[in-house]
Amino acid sequence: MALFLVTGVAGFIGSSIARALIGRGDKVRGIDNFSTGKRENLIGLESIELIEGDLNAAGIAERGCLGTNYIFHEAALPSVPRSVENPIESNEANVDATVKLLDAARRAGVKRVVYAGSSSAYGNSPSLPKQEDMVPAPLSPYAVSKLAGELYMRSFFHVYGLETVTLRYFNVFGPRQDPASQYSGVLAVFISRMLRHQMPTIYGDGEQSRDFTYIDNVVAGNLLAASAPPERVAGRVFNVATGTRITLNETVNILKNLTGYQGQVGYAAERTGDVKHSLADITAAHSDLGYQPKIAFREGLQKTVDWYRSAKA
Ligand code: UD1
Repeated sequence: MALFLVTGVAGFIGSSIARALIGRGDKVRGIDNFSTGKRENLIGLESIELIEGDLNAAGIAERGCLGTNYIFHEAALPSVPRSVENPIESNEANVDATVKLLDAARRAGVKRVVYAGSSSAYGNSPSLPKQEDMVPAPLSPYAVSKLAGELYMRSFFHVYGLETVTLRYFNVFGPRQDPASQYSGVLAVFISRMLRHQMPTIYGDGEQSRDFTYIDNVVAGNLLAASAPPERVAGRVFNVATGTRITLNETVNILKNLTGYQGQVGYAAERTGDVKHSLADITAAHSDLGYQPKIAFREGLQKTVDWYRSAKA
């Protein structure tokens, strides 16, 4: 029976992938240093073999890779503003740890590594939708770090023959995303605030747009990337997104309806390193992974609001 390693298993995306694997009866090992991961995300996942530690610490990546067939590498320090404040920390967590994991993986004979890339790789290049063969233009240290991880994925495929696949996620949201950190994703912050009748603050004019992607679509993309034939996916990069975009102003209006929030919306200065528009072309993921977004943006938003309401997050 195949063994799946999920790094960042206590995080929002890692724990969602692990839940899907456990749900279909797979054997799962997880690594987390609990820097941003949460123990409550692991409730119901007690059958996972948990390695508590940092991928940069001696021996952790090796332990994780021993006997492992497939890796979903979700461990990272997200957030553009966090990386602007502390680029060295982002680089260590997102780049150094990735190289350590890849090196341990190739030595241990791991079959495939599926990597959490980021739409931030495209930066502010004007053309939309973003296609994988566009020249990357990362703006923030976070974007550079996730792109560096991608390039290592490609290198390890070409140099060592390790099957690697990068999925460039576009603004993932859904149940269990942490709303409480200053670095949290915008939808988690807005939904949890608006449910508590607290004012959301939009950075900039609110006309920036995002291709928000519901977590179930991202989980499905990962499972497809692990099982797709190597000649179609190894060494490659795929956008994983919804393929639609919406502005923050429009999103807040929908959220007013879904949450019942009737107060004001605040506006503050635009964030440094912020991208204006983001929209994915998902043709490649469709044709080579068989990916298609099963949950549209509004449906995902409704599910997410329902979850935060019941979790009282
Ligand atoms: C970026 C990446 C995304 C990545 C994420 C990791 C792009 C296009 N996307 O997301 O793929 O997964 O980093 O952290 O580069 N905002 C507010 N008010 C708030 C919080 C945020 O207006 O309280 C705004 C931000 O300024 C931004 C938008 O909402 O314009 C989205 O912000 P956020 O959720 O942090 O994600 P990105 O920076 O877009």
